[in-house]
Amino acid sequence: MKVTAAAPGKTILVGEHFVVYGEAAVVMAINRRVQVTVEDRKDRSLYIASDLGFSGTFVEDEYTAETGDVGGGTVLEPIKISAQTVLKAFEENRGLNIAVQSAIPMAVGLGSSGALAVATVAAVGKFLGSDLSEEEIVSLSTEAEKAVHINPSGIDQAISTYGGVIVYKKKEGITRLKTTSDIPLVIGNTGIQRNTGTMVDGVRMKRKQFPEIMNLMNAAANHVSRQFIDALKRDALNRLGEVMDINQGLLMAIGVSHEALERLVYAARANGALGAKLTGAGGGGCMIALATLDGRERVSEAIRRAGGTPIIAKKADQGVHCWIHE
Ligand code: MEV
Repeated sequence: MKVTAAAPGKTILVGEHFVVYGEAAVVMAINRRVQVTVEDRKDRSLYIASDLGFSGTFVEDEYTAETGDVGGGTVLEPIKISAQTVLKAFEENRGLNIAVQSAIPMAVGLGSSGALAVATVAAVGKFLGSDLSEEEIVSLSTEAEKAVHINPSGIDQAISTYGGVIVYKKKEGITRLKTTSDIPLVIGNTGIQRNTGTMVDGVRMKRKQFPEIMNLMNAAANHVSRQFIDALKRDALNRLGEVMDINQGLLMAIGVSHEALERLVYAARANGALGAKLTGAGGGGCMIALATLDGRERVSEAIRRAGGTPIIAKKADQGVHCWIHE
């Protein structure tokens, strides 16, 4: 028997960075997915074949590369840990062949690692004969990610599991939000790598230097999230775009934008986007432009001309799902 699970990536629509200081972030699943296929194996090792540039075998914690270099072990490790977390939860001690295909670029804030953890947990669970509940998938994949310190808040795992749109607040956790709009986006990847921890530290330093100003920024971000959620519930796309533009102003003010991001943001706005902002940690990585379904090609072309790699995306209502191949 062979089982495949598919899980969507995500983008933060509003609230990044301010979420660290208690404000609401709104996160949306996108129709870009990872797929993880699991099948039986005779020995006790975990063999992971991936289209991420690496494939290899883990025997206990020892990694042997088959394609790509030994460093691939670090990339594949979270997948191994996710599989092991489920095997342990079911008190199973067996080997597995795991095949990974990803349509989500890695390390640019689009939730590829969360989606991989979720799809691995769901596929291994199903393979072991259990229909894990959504809550169990979130919990097991968050446990697995804590072991590799990626995003222990669990927000990425939640959005990849449930799909749709989620509001996250540190104190209140996760609320699912119903919205009928497709929320057509063009994501623009600057191709500039950045480190989330460094960006978060930069904001913390600014808060030390300018506490009064930064508190006011937080208060403004609070209203940005509220008005965004309100507009989302009413499917008022034009208003959503305007609020995203204000959010970008705040993100620039707290020092997390980048010239390359600004170029893509301005190019998108000048070519029919309803609003545009960076998404995730900033300092590089990706921006998002809200567009109409018909206007996405034009925005996409503008982003390409401005030096970015566009990805046309929209809301994915379906979260993780599995199927069995006989
Ligand atoms: C990064 O994707 C989002 C940040 O708000 C950091 C965090 O919430 O952990 C920048």
